[in-house]
Amino acid sequence: MAGEKLVKSKQRVADHGEVFTPRWLVDDMLDLVKQEAERIDSRFLEPACGSGNFLVSVLERKLTAVQVRHGRSEFEKRHYALFGLMCIYGIELLEDNAKECRENLLGTFSQYLNVSADDEWSKAAKAVVAANIVQGDALKMATVDGEHITFAEWGYLGRGRYQRRDFRYDSLTQRASMQGTLFDAFEEHEIFRPVRTYQAMTVRELAS
Ligand SMILES: C[S@@+](CC[C@H](N)C(=O)[O-])C[C@H]1O[C@@H](n2cnc3c(N)ncnc32)[C@H](O)[C@@H]1O
Repeated sequence: MAGEKLVKSKQRVADHGEVFTPRWLVDDMLDLVKQEAERIDSRFLEPACGSGNFLVSVLERKLTAVQVRHGRSEFEKRHYALFGLMCIYGIELLEDNAKECRENLLGTFSQYLNVSADDEWSKAAKAVVAANIVQGDALKMATVDGEHITFAEWGYLGRGRYQRRDFRYDSLTQRASMQGTLFDAFEEHEIFRPVRTYQAMTVRELAS
């Protein structure tokens, strides 16, 4: 896209490898995983998400799917749109990029539902991106405060209720290393233990 700014400063490129991906390339790459990117409940994690060029495009694709599947019911449309957002995760080292990423996702979501910033749907979405877009070091799997990164696993239970369980990122990444070992035979719930489980929540509860 003409006018797209892909570099903020030479210093940031040198210090953090910060070069943003142009829209055309994001689209081409997402087309390689088209079915997943268009599935409302597929989970995407970008460990160096910048200001969200990939994540925003994934959200747009999910929202297109929401419109096709649930566009006839305002209730379902809104709840599935929020669920689509809940399935998008990012880690970003720099505070300004992490903030921009959250804002860009929120802007896309609010525009789709045509809601203002003080609407409870925007507030619920804000709570979701605050949990899902983490400022931290993806290599060290730690937040800027040195805490373990945790991610929320969101589920949509239907009838306007969501479930949340939090897991440590470092334990989630262990699954691949267990393939071909004794642990391969274990069920997911025997390996992954949530660090926190929440009661089912409505949008109003999420917003507050
Ligand atoms: C090449 S840019 C890509 C940004 C985005 N994925 C895109 O395609 O537009 C790399 C990003 O990773 C961030 N970054 C660098 N090291 C990181 C780390 N250890 N953990 C998390 N983010 C990191 C940088 O601040 C920068 O925003």
